[in-house]
Amino acid sequence: MRTFSQQSAALRPLALLIVLVVSAFLAACNPNSDLVAPQAQATEAADLNASAKIDFSNAAADSNVTLKSVASFPVGAAFNSKITASSAKASQLFAAQFNAKTVHAYMNTQPTPGKFNLAEVDYWVKAAEKQSLRLHGHSLVYHMAVPEWFTQFKGNTGGFENAVKNHIQTIVGRYKGKIKSWDVINEIFDTNSGTIRKTAFRQLYASDAAYLEFVKRCFQWAHEADPNALLFYNDFNLEVSTSKTEAVVALVNSFKKSGTPIDGIGTQMHVNVSTSDAGMRNAYQRLAATGLLVHVSELDIVVNPTNDPSMAFTKQVQDAQAAKYQTVAALYKQNVPARLQYGITLWSFSDADSWLVVDKKQRDMPNVFDSNYNKKIAFFGLLQGLK
Ligand code: GLA
Repeated sequence: MRTFSQQSAALRPLALLIVLVVSAFLAACNPNSDLVAPQAQATEAADLNASAKIDFSNAAADSNVTLKSVASFPVGAAFNSKITASSAKASQLFAAQFNAKTVHAYMNTQPTPGKFNLAEVDYWVKAAEKQSLRLHGHSLVYHMAVPEWFTQFKGNTGGFENAVKNHIQTIVGRYKGKIKSWDVINEIFDTNSGTIRKTAFRQLYASDAAYLEFVKRCFQWAHEADPNALLFYNDFNLEVSTSKTEAVVALVNSFKKSGTPIDGIGTQMHVNVSTSDAGMRNAYQRLAATGLLVHVSELDIVVNPTNDPSMAFTKQVQDAQAAKYQTVAALYKQNVPARLQYGITLWSFSDADSWLVVDKKQRDMPNVFDSNYNKKIAFFGLLQGLK
């Protein structure tokens, strides 16, 4: 026999559907309403899975509302300057919608020892003089996007550390007071286990403990170069792997214990339409519990996780993506206290320049603007979640 709570649990989806339909009808009757579904439903909607039927067909009503105007924290994007430099439409769209920019400043900005190529970073520092943008640098130390002279360093560990220190301090010092925050080191943990990744940098050390002392020194070097810069640790898959989330939490707690300067954690959030809402909620809550700033640092939402070559980007698929964008933002607002909300940054600008499409050659459309820099339904989903 089913208990009362089982019966009411079974009826809950039906009740929620009725509430959503009635609310959508009332909203449609209200000429002042620019909400697709009323704010009161946001929490419940956020708890629905990506398969939720949220109706974004009225999205055009939101056409004059911008991401940065509805959000209570900065909304940013990460992409190469050639996009806005070569398209007036993209440039206007970026200026209208965003008030933050993550600037690519990888280790390959020093292709040979002592020779820096910082044109991309300079471009954005200059752009920020005209358009109000909070600049975030990514990533001072990262074992990918790195020249061989760093990964196959000729010399002892002391020499390697001098080179890394010089790299960090040259870049952070050059942009002192201009680039507000930095990802100091990116992705030191394995995808799922939370153990230390066996990167080229880790191989230089006899133990994880010795390597972690180097990691801490990277933060100290950055802090010395700009004591006011906010310093972040950045990693991925935290919404999927609780072991990895706990490893990051333990890392930053050990930083705090040893007095190592750290201000925030970046959770990349390269997610997909089926990523569990509970997993995202857990990651937000665990990261926020450290008391550090939490940055959704590289958001994109894949619709074709199996990379099926015949996948059709139907209206249903696009609605599911919009619902997930809404959920990512709504859960962030609900689970990270306002004082710790460093912002949400989108990774790549449009579907045309997504790293998944361009570099990984996947059949997908993970971003909120389409290939012609038009707003997708996903844009309105994000807008809804930010409100
Ligand atoms: C990770 C890294 C980024 C970038 C993306 C793919 O998320 O943090 O620097 O390499 O992958 O573009």
